[in-house]
Amino acid sequence: MYDIVKSDKLTPDVIKLEIRAPHIARKAKAGQFIIVTPTEHGERIPLTMADFSPEKGTVTIAALEVGKTTRELGTMKAGDKLFSLVGPLGLPTELHKYGDVVSIGGGIGLALMYPVVRALRQAGNYTINIIGARNEKLLIYEDEIKSVSDEFYVCTDDGSKGHHGFVSDVLKKLIAENKKIDMVYAVGPIIMMKVIANITKPHNIKTVVSLNPIMVDGTGMCGSCRVIIGGKTKFGCVDGPEFDGHQVDFDNLTARNKRYIPEEQVALRKWQGAK
Ligand code: FES
Repeated sequence: MYDIVKSDKLTPDVIKLEIRAPHIARKAKAGQFIIVTPTEHGERIPLTMADFSPEKGTVTIAALEVGKTTRELGTMKAGDKLFSLVGPLGLPTELHKYGDVVSIGGGIGLALMYPVVRALRQAGNYTINIIGARNEKLLIYEDEIKSVSDEFYVCTDDGSKGHHGFVSDVLKKLIAENKKIDMVYAVGPIIMMKVIANITKPHNIKTVVSLNPIMVDGTGMCGSCRVIIGGKTKFGCVDGPEFDGHQVDFDNLTARNKRYIPEEQVALRKWQGAK
């Protein structure tokens, strides 16, 4: 069992939990994820680590409350216990001194973006960070990401904060201004990552995306997280979750991520009915 040390709502639909898990916190690196099973008979779900502290022995996760299990997590408070945590899983972000790195995040992807840009900056990169959400109230990790930015841009779909429009608009503008960009990192909705990869491809800008396929075991055994990269099948959990954005078959990923929507709806209705 794993103790929840702290529980916060980042938005009405996003829960942030700090969990005591010293053995994971000691080994965790930016870009990795954990598999959480909230209750003994619950579902296993992969969640990105928004932070980890070897000193405190804790890991922090942020989850968008959309389905049964994430809503269940959303009801948890400090002092509650989680049945199981497995991790850290996946390959960490490849850290090099690339030069000028533009990192782009949207929605819940901002939670993962924070430790990644922090690590990129610690690796000596100049960090240009662009974050976006539907509106100002849905922006998460804004202060944290700003604190590890050399340049920082905010975008909202409704114009309630920063640029009125998409994160991709800012990237296009930077490219049009001939800004030096040595690498682009993107994490967020699939459509956002696809658009970013399509923008950078003709300019030959190395682009890394963090994918979110459906996962079960998270250790390369079930095949549920299959993604197509450069025409070849890869497993998101052990070969990723980060891949070359120019090689990803985003349409296949979109289709695969919709496979269990009817079952997810049934599970959610049952859970809501049982509450
Ligand atoms: S989640 Fe099962 S193989 Fe990746």
